[in-house]
Amino acid sequence: MIPLNQNLTSLRRSDIRVYTNLARQIPGCVMLTIGEPDFDTPQAIKEAAQAALDGGQTHYAPNQGTAELRNAVAAFETRRGHETAPEEVLITIGACQALFTALLGILNPGEEIIVPTPGFGLYKTIATIAGAKTVELDVSETGFQIRREALEAAITPRTKAIVINSPCNPTGVVLDRQSLENVKAAVLDRPIFLVCDNVYNRLCYGEDCPDLSLDPELRDRLILCQSFSKPYAMTGWRVGYLTCPAYVMDRLLLLSAAQITAVPTFVQQAAVKALSVDPEPMRRIYRQRRDYVCQRLRDMGLPFPEPEGAFYVFPNIERFGMDSAEFCTRMIRQGKVAAVPGSCFGAEGYIRLSYCCSGEDLKTGLDRMERFIRMLEKT
Ligand SMILES: Cc1ncc(COP(=O)(O)O)c(C=O)c1O
Repeated sequence: MIPLNQNLTSLRRSDIRVYTNLARQIPGCVMLTIGEPDFDTPQAIKEAAQAALDGGQTHYAPNQGTAELRNAVAAFETRRGHETAPEEVLITIGACQALFTALLGILNPGEEIIVPTPGFGLYKTIATIAGAKTVELDVSETGFQIRREALEAAITPRTKAIVINSPCNPTGVVLDRQSLENVKAAVLDRPIFLVCDNVYNRLCYGEDCPDLSLDPELRDRLILCQSFSKPYAMTGWRVGYLTCPAYVMDRLLLLSAAQITAVPTFVQQAAVKALSVDPEPMRRIYRQRRDYVCQRLRDMGLPFPEPEGAFYVFPNIERFGMDSAEFCTRMIRQGKVAAVPGSCFGAEGYIRLSYCCSGEDLKTGLDRMERFIRMLEKT
């Protein structure tokens, strides 16, 4: 065999799919594994794509994205308090490519990113591809918030970026003001980028959803990664964006152009429309489901960090005396309900439940989960 890029040797397939596939083999198993909206894309967005296709928008778009979408994104970001010019916007194939472009664009081999853990696994995958190292900052012992001493202790001369994701996949936790202050203090006087993965920030349920990407003092080091997938139920459209200062865009644009040339033109037209759609009706339903799941977990006596956004809850299952992989495997086989082990997100002793399913499935799934844990308690 001819050797491949050695940075790829340690990459593994996402275990999330492993558990989803296992569940698919069990007839009638309820899936609480899925990290994507169960709603259809709003009709107006689909019609915009159709009109663009009918209007002949089937050719290459500019590498950075169409002027219309970059203007719309810049206006949208500026309205929410993150002043952005169209030149500072790069349209990407979802937040995945935004993150890929951002991290590959800034990391040299041997450099480090700090990732609060449990967290989304893609950051580490990209860092590995870049030959960089991921420093996992364990936040499970600190209420899933970022403490100053712990963060300072994780910083080394090789630290190149801190990646934050609030609301968080897999916990649904929103970083509080103190956590954000701690992150700001850590990056402000150092040559460290702040990468904000904000894909769930339009799905916040509390009164307060503090957001470090709005802080003007961090503009010169902020790379914001955003997606149309979650708020507009557009996961399959594969469109998102990043924003960054001009000197960073100068290189990231070339990297993205080399990767993808451009996002499909008619998809960008649909994304322009999406920015005028109010995702509030979907958010309200997620919020009701969130309240329901949390109440059911309280009734089951399972502790969990308070989820104030996204569509996940992360209950602790340590007291059952098995690791999260065994717990999930047994719950699929014996309980006919599927969740994702915390180990997939770098945290043992937890499972991730997603409430991207109908109210009926959610009730059936949680009834089954309750029966399963009562059975474990008896044995
Ligand atoms: C935290 C987080 N970031 C980024 C993404 C990527 O989203 P997309 O590429 O669909 O925009 C996901 C998808 O699940 C996610 O959970």
